[in-house]
Amino acid sequence: MATEKPHMNLVFIGHVDHGKSTSVGRMLADTGNVDAYLIEKYRKMAEETGKATFEFAWVMDSLKEERERGVTIDVAHKKFNTDKYYFTVIDAPGHRDFVKNMITGTSQADAAVLVVSAIEGPQAQTREHLFLAFTLGVRQLIIGLNKMDAVKPQWSEEKFNEAKAEVEKLLKLTGYKDVPIIPYSAYTGDNATKRSENMPWYKGPTILEALNNLKEPAKATDLPLRLPIQDVYTITGIGTVPVGRVECGVLKPDTKVMFEPSHVVGEVKSIEMHHEQLPQAIPGDNVGFNVRGIAKNDVRRGDVAGPVDNPPTVAKSFKAQVMVLNHPSVITVGYTPVFHCHTMQIACTFVELLAKLDPATGSVKEENPQFLKTGDAAIVRIQPSRPMVIEKAKEFPQLGRFAIRDMGQTVAAGVCLDVEKKVQ
Ligand code: GTP
Ligand code: MG
Repeated sequence: MATEKPHMNLVFIGHVDHGKSTSVGRMLADTGNVDAYLIEKYRKMAEETGKATFEFAWVMDSLKEERERGVTIDVAHKKFNTDKYYFTVIDAPGHRDFVKNMITGTSQADAAVLVVSAIEGPQAQTREHLFLAFTLGVRQLIIGLNKMDAVKPQWSEEKFNEAKAEVEKLLKLTGYKDVPIIPYSAYTGDNATKRSENMPWYKGPTILEALNNLKEPAKATDLPLRLPIQDVYTITGIGTVPVGRVECGVLKPDTKVMFEPSHVVGEVKSIEMHHEQLPQAIPGDNVGFNVRGIAKNDVRRGDVAGPVDNPPTVAKSFKAQVMVLNHPSVITVGYTPVFHCHTMQIACTFVELLAKLDPATGSVKEENPQFLKTGDAAIVRIQPSRPMVIEKAKEFPQLGRFAIRDMGQTVAAGVCLDVEKKVQ
């Protein structure tokens, strides 16, 4: 193992251009996890190609299209150490077209940093990402008010307080408590890892201190293995290598695992994380593992690996509690949007609207409602268009949550209450 420090999956979220990639690049650079010469090289390249100031973002944005457009498209993973934790940091895209990538990144996170430009204050995807993070079960949050070097006047406490008040209004609508709100500049580094001399009025933690103050996530090591597959590779000389994050349980070499819903069994031969062999993988580890007995096409993204004697649950239908975040009209029986659940994206139909709930108390407001609209919380029955793995959120929190997307936006999010099993 690279380190004995506790491992934490951290995601940077927020509106497009508010500085998520720059923030991650800055944290990596200042903690010595990326070389200064690389930043300098990117600074020159960015300047020459008309993309000046993107040198920190380019640490994360490595795709050609990302660099040309100056936006993050795909979720990037990097590792990064502080004195307390070993972080796998996920840089999520802010652009609305890439929210599905953001959901994948966020559903893997133990904690989130919501980056908000102090110049613009919270925007559409600030709100959307904040609600999604909460609904997807990310329970620890840090808010960074970025670009304090560029507010007018520079480093202004008043500007910070204005943006902070707006952010606090949004926070009240979620269940987040005790969230540090930090004025900083990812570009200059003020209050990122070093306390800023430009903002002596601020007494709270820096971003780095706030990261070290996060609570270690409870490890779901005692549960049966659940490992949703992100990708499957064939590596010459090694064989089939599925890649994904262990959500719960322990993955060990020389054990058999079942992949559902593909319903195939293979034997785990070896496990790797960040190019290092692991004796075993525990919840939170993003790993590639070599499996004997299966071909690349036998398993796919959206499959979940689990023990042969306690395999992942394949649903014929499931009962869920959903919260409608953003729907232009109404949701009725027959509505079939795309569900994003662990690494799976799949069309599912609302087959029954069982009850409308009071969002504040959770008590039933109306039995069998005719429709649901924005702001409603409800209990519904859902039928997937193809076999899918979903678990009761009570038993497997990470496998029991989902987001619902339609027409280019997140319309709802929810958790699974009960599963009607498909007979395999
Ligand atoms: P998406 O991934 O496309 O959603 O954007 P992002 O949130 O990752 O933003 P990114 O880091 O790519 O930065 C967008 C622009 O804001 C770039 O021009 C950055 O140089 C600039 N920027 C980021 N942080 C700061 C900052 O602290 N100060 C100033 N002045 N500019 C910043
Ligand atoms: Mg970015």
